[in-house]
Formats: sequence, structure tokens, C-alpha cells
Amino acid sequence: MVRAQGGILLLLLRILLCSVFPETNIASGIGSLVYGNKPDAAASALFSCYHAQHIPDPITMGAYLRGIPSRSLRMHRIWWSKHRHRLALSIFTHSDLDRLKSLERQCRGYPGGLITVAVWVPIIAEATTPPAPGQKPQSGYNLTAAQSAMLANATNTVDRFYTTFESPAINSSANGSSYPHTCILRIVLVYELVANDIMAALMPLNILRNTAMLMATTPLVAMVDADMLFNWGLAAKVLMNTSRVVMMEHKAMRELTVWVIPIFDTNTTRSIPERVSLAEEAVADGRNPKAKLLDMWHKRGDVYPYGMYGYTLGHGPTNYEIWSNTSSDYNVTYQTGYEPFFIVARRVLHR
Ligand SMILES: *[C@@H]1O[C@H](CO)[C@@H](O)[C@H](O)[C@H]1NC(C)=O
Ligand SMILES: *[C@@H]1O[C@H](CO)[C@@H](O)[C@H](O)[C@H]1NC(C)=O
Ligand SMILES: *[C@@H]1O[C@H](CO)[C@@H](O)[C@H](O)[C@H]1NC(C)=O
Ligand SMILES: *[C@@H]1O[C@H](CO)[C@@H](O)[C@H](O)[C@H]1NC(C)=O
Ligand SMILES: *[C@@H]1O[C@H](CO)[C@@H](O)[C@H](O)[C@H]1NC(C)=O
Ligand SMILES: *[C@@H]1O[C@H](CO)[C@@H](O)[C@H](O)[C@H]1NC(C)=O
Ligand SMILES: *[C@@H]1O[C@H](CO)[C@@H](O)[C@H](O)[C@H]1NC(C)=O
Ligand SMILES: *[C@@H]1O[C@H](CO)[C@@H](O)[C@H](O)[C@H]1NC(C)=O
Repeated sequence: MVRAQGGILLLLLRILLCSVFPETNIASGIGSLVYGNKPDAAASALFSCYHAQHIPDPITMGAYLRGIPSRSLRMHRIWWSKHRHRLALSIFTHSDLDRLKSLERQCRGYPGGLITVAVWVPIIAEATTPPAPGQKPQSGYNLTAAQSAMLANATNTVDRFYTTFESPAINSSANGSSYPHTCILRIVLVYELVANDIMAALMPLNILRNTAMLMATTPLVAMVDADMLFNWGLAAKVLMNTSRVVMMEHKAMRELTVWVIPIFDTNTTRSIPERVSLAEEAVADGRNPKAKLLDMWHKRGDVYPYGMYGYTLGHGPTNYEIWSNTSSDYNVTYQTGYEPFFIVARRVLHR
């Protein structure tokens, strides 16, 4: 995978709200377009689980620093593709409205696979009027007209994004086959009441990732960032190889194996448009895509292993030297500080 843009991975410690999720409900396989008031089993389970945990107190910096997870998130709408996904691996990720452009590239690079996304909209709570003497304080929080309008606008933005990929006749069977040309999307829009503009800049990454994960229904899952592009061969070769997928599922379930995803960054001295096109070049199909990628790294200096010139512990143990010289599996030894992206059995994450 190649990052189109750099970005600091903030590992914010906010924990999972819905840790016990009824898997039977979500594993229905056949999705449907779900809106707030017409949910199918999966989405309605998600909604009720989430909202049972909801407390409408805006998250504050103090609570955040004490490691108290935000409980002021609310699901606003779920979009659940009607199309069937074809690959055993779901990708789950978090996004805000600005990252949808990156997500669009990611979705085009993962045809037939499921990508589940939690899109975050922070809402800065207005100060409430203190209760009159002798009266109990009002519980709950009502959005102001301006906040409701902003949320409606955000919903439209996500809806437009989703519809581009969902329109079935044109996009899924353009050439007479029913194989999708893009990914299959499940998106949830969540908003979070926050106390101030500092908190409005701190995306609750772990909660959002976990929320997105709850919509993944395949045996294998991988958490990635929205600005990562997948190599063409992931969907077209690795996940199309039935014996490989059977082996991966087996090892993931029985031996708790995870598969580390080598990740590259584009050269940060280049302009953003240039970096986007380098990333697209690096992941494209070709005669020998891996040789091309190595060429872009060693000869052209266009890409290099992620974190190679920064936090080397983060991805160092992946060992890009060995990866460069082999096409076989090899073992990676965990070291403190290692934070790779990886493919894992969904059931293992649900434990
Ligand atoms: C929110 O609106 C409802 C209906 O108008 C009202 O009954 C309730 O008291 C309001 N809550 C707050 C906290 O203002
Ligand atoms: C609505 O969204 C668009 C783009 O998504 C943005 O340009 C516009 O400022 C937004 N309007 C409001 C009222 O938030
Ligand atoms: C779907 O098809 C329409 C019309 O050809 C096109 O504008 C749109 O970009 C396509 N969407 C995707 C995700 O390929
Ligand atoms: C249709 O498009 C898919 C995906 O691009 C491709 O795999 C398939 O071979 C195409 N089928 C025909 C008949 O061109
Ligand atoms: C499919 O995967 C198996 C097991 O990993 C491997 O031996 C085989 O070469 C792969 N086939 C193709 C066409 O890549
Ligand atoms: C990034 O690109 C610049 C300009 O082309 C080049 O001088 C530099 O060596 C490259 N960086 C790496 C790490 O390859
Ligand atoms: C990998 O191959 C390169 C070039 O062929 C060589 O310079 C390097 O030492 C090899 N690394 C390992 C770990 O074998
Ligand atoms: C990786 O380690 C396991 C357990 O130590 C071992 O069974 C396996 O053969 C190793 N795989 C490779 C490719 O070295």
C-alpha cells in the first residue's frame, strides 16, 4: 500500500463503546440501503447498541486527558450497499468530510471488496442556560438550527459520495459482467458533541475505527487509513487466489496469524498532486508491479518504506530488505513500538 499523502498517525486512546456486538445480526450478507428510520437488522443493531451507550455530555479536554472515552457520539445515518462484495477481506477506516477524496481513490483501487467507513462530524456544544432556582437541570442536548443545518449538509456530502459508487447499472455491469469496478461501501456518519474547538480537531480514532469494524462481515479484516491506496494485485491476485485465501483464513482463525501490510510513503519533497500520481503509479497493474515499485524506491527515490526517515520503530520490523528479495511468507518479530497495518481474522478482533 502506498500513502498518497503523509500524515501523523495519532494514536488517541479512546476505547470501544460497543465491544459486544451481536454478530449474527450483522452477518446477513445481503445489505440494503438503510436510512435512520428504516434500518435493517444489521444497521438497527448497530444503532441501538451505539445509542444505548450514548451520553449527551460534550467531551472535554480534561476527560480526554484522563483517558475517559467520549460517549457523546451518535450515529446519524448509515449507508449500506445493496451490492454483494466478492472478497474475503474487508477494509475498515475512519474519515472526516475532507478525506472523502482520498477514500474515493481507495475505493476505486479495491474492486469487489468491502470498505466500511465511519465518517466523523464534530459539533461544538453551545453553553446551556443554567436551570432556574429550584428546577432540575435539563438533560440531553438539542442541536441548534445552525448545527442541524451543518449536519444535514454533511449528510448530503456523504450521500453524494456514496451514490457515485452505488449507482448499479452503469458502474457494476458496464461490460456485461456483474463484477463491480469499485469497492462496495458501508458508511456510517457519526457526530460527536465536543466542548470546544480543540476537541473538534481531535478525531476519536479508535472509536471510529471500531465503529467501522462493526460493519465488516468478512472472515478477514484490515484497518487502514483513508489516504492509503492498495496495490492492484491485492484485489486482483492475492484475494482472487482461492487456495491462498483458504490458507489465510485457516491460519488467521486457528493460529491467530496476522499478515503485515508493507506500506510505502511518497517522497515528501514533491508537490501533493505529484505525490498522488506517484502513489497511483506505484499501485497500478503492470508486467512486474513489484519490480516497478522497487525501482521507484531505489532508482528514482519516488517512494520509500513508510517512516523510513522518521519513526523507524513503527514499521522497521516489517523488514523491507527481506520483503524486497522474496516472494514467500516470512516471519516478523514484534518489537516495542511496532505499529504495522495488518490483516487479521475478524473474530479475533471481536474478542
Ligand atoms: C429539547 O427539545 C425538547 C422538545 O422541544 C424539549 O422537550 C427538551 O426540554 C429540550 N432539551 C433541552 C436540554 O433543551
Ligand atoms: C455545506 O457543505 C459544502 C461542501 O461540502 C460547504 O462548502 C458549505 O460551506 C457547507 N455549508 C454549510 C452551511 O455548512
Ligand atoms: C459511475 O458511472 C458514472 C457515469 O458513467 C460516473 O460519472 C461515475 O464516476 C461512476 N462512478 C464510479 C465510482 O466509477
Ligand atoms: C469486465 O470488467 C471486469 C473488471 O474490470 C473484468 O475483470 C472482466 O474481464 C471484464 N469482462 C469483459 C467481458 O470484458
Ligand atoms: C495461489 O496461492 C498458492 C498458495 O499460497 C500459491 O502456491 C500459488 O502460486 C498461487 N497461485 C497464483 C496463480 O498466484
Ligand atoms: C526525494 O526527492 C528528491 C527530489 O527529487 C530527491 O533529491 C531525494 O533524494 C528524494 N528522497 C529520497 C529519500 O529518495
Ligand atoms: C536484497 O537484494 C539486494 C539487491 O539484490 C541486495 O543488495 C540486498 O543485500 C539484499 N538483501 C537481503 C537482506 O538479502
Ligand atoms: C514462522 O514461525 C513459526 C513458529 O515459530 C514456524 O512454524 C514457521 O515455520 C515459520 N515460518 C517461516 C516462513 O519461517
